[in-house]
Amino acid sequence: MPIVKGIKSYLGANPVAFHMPGHKLGKGLSKEVFNDITAMDLTEIPYLDNLHFPEGIIEQAQKLAANAFGAEETFFLVNGSTCGIHAIIMTICRPGDKLIVSRDCHKSVINGMMLAGVEPIYISPGYDEAFGIPTVIAADNLKESFENNPDCVGVLITRPNYYGVCSDLKEIADITHSYNKILAVDEAHGSHLKFNKKLPQCAMELGADICVQSAHKTLPALTQGAFLHVKSQKIDVERLKFNLNILQTTSPSYIIMSALDYSRALMEIEGEALLDKLIDNIDWFNNSLKSYGEFNILSDEKLEYGCMDKTRIVINVIKNGITGYKVEMLLRENYNIQVEMSDYNNIVCIATVSDIKEAFEKLLYGLGGIYDKTYRSVEINKIIYSKYNLPERAVLLKDIFKYKSCKLGLKEAVGKVCRGTITPYPPGVPVICPGELIKEEAVEEIINIIKYGGKVNGVSEDNKIEIIDIK
Ligand SMILES: Cc1ncc(COP(=O)(O)O)c(C=O)c1O
Repeated sequence: MPIVKGIKSYLGANPVAFHMPGHKLGKGLSKEVFNDITAMDLTEIPYLDNLHFPEGIIEQAQKLAANAFGAEETFFLVNGSTCGIHAIIMTICRPGDKLIVSRDCHKSVINGMMLAGVEPIYISPGYDEAFGIPTVIAADNLKESFENNPDCVGVLITRPNYYGVCSDLKEIADITHSYNKILAVDEAHGSHLKFNKKLPQCAMELGADICVQSAHKTLPALTQGAFLHVKSQKIDVERLKFNLNILQTTSPSYIIMSALDYSRALMEIEGEALLDKLIDNIDWFNNSLKSYGEFNILSDEKLEYGCMDKTRIVINVIKNGITGYKVEMLLRENYNIQVEMSDYNNIVCIATVSDIKEAFEKLLYGLGGIYDKTYRSVEINKIIYSKYNLPERAVLLKDIFKYKSCKLGLKEAVGKVCRGTITPYPPGVPVICPGELIKEEAVEEIINIIKYGGKVNGVSEDNKIEIIDIK
């Protein structure tokens, strides 16, 4: 049982988890509610309900969630925000429609458009040179995109992004609605925002017509548990239900749904106080880290535009002459701490209401230990990620399925058409999307990222990518 063995071995070491799921190795889940978790794995028996046609306990739980999150209607998802994003695209678009999407979207957005036969109009997010990360969608870019594409359906924005950076969604909503278009928000990283005024406001409060939230990322919910919220007359809810019926399993997990219900109740009743405590711990950590001056935390003051979800701890470590990849590895191997992710410049930690102060103390201790050693081995401020110069498109997304494909070495693939999404993960922003021409500079970037220890989804272990044969 390699999977069981792997999990037991990770848990046996009693690690400090600054990664999702937000229940933090079970600590945030009530022992009383989940003491019999295996027996809770049930199906559509008469006493329970049916996710696809809810009229009992699931209907009640969804209504309570809609009320708590400020939506008109809420749907429970058991296949993550991924299936919610697919359902949103299939609901707001018809085959052949155009949708404006931020280029730093998750691959589920690109896959959703491919499945729905929708053509993307990409807009590039801003870029922070110091941290080397994507930032916000600028109002002017969005306006220009609406002006150039009056026939588009609307826009799908990712907010917060993986680094906790939040675009000005109120402004985006006002612009979108002034063109009478739909605003959909991928709020996968923002399920907690609604419950504390010290955090940026959430999509439902700021005028989004529809959004998804991966509860499992930032709330004490189980992996795959997510919410889809609607608050708009522009959304055809019957069409949305039809699509969710197609996309979600016919055997939805009652354990996942119970945890969604639990996380909603917990946040509604205690969320503000729990988040206050978490924010106090984060403030303490941030202040304490100041004594290690070259470890730099991303905050509102450091962003030119937008604001930060301060529960997302982004620490730029490169000024200490060490990459984020290396810090992640040292924290894991020497201090028993696992962060959510790292890139060349930064490490990223997900902090949730399930974290206790001791976790922050251990993180500070680990970073202090790493700081005290002298690392001067890497080029500081070397930017290896692209600045989102959009490649040329050779094949429409909807036509990708028509062609055969083959694998080519990275350098050989220059000038050919890409079949998949080539995404350095992190930061998760595609360098090349399906149907786009593979440019030499993109290949250089991919090679660089791999060289410095990064992972690039879509590139095989023998450094090949799939291209399509358009002959
Ligand atoms: C921005 C963003 N959107 C959507 C998703 C997909 O969410 P899920 O894992 O809940 O399917 C992710 C996952 O990492 C994400 O980062």
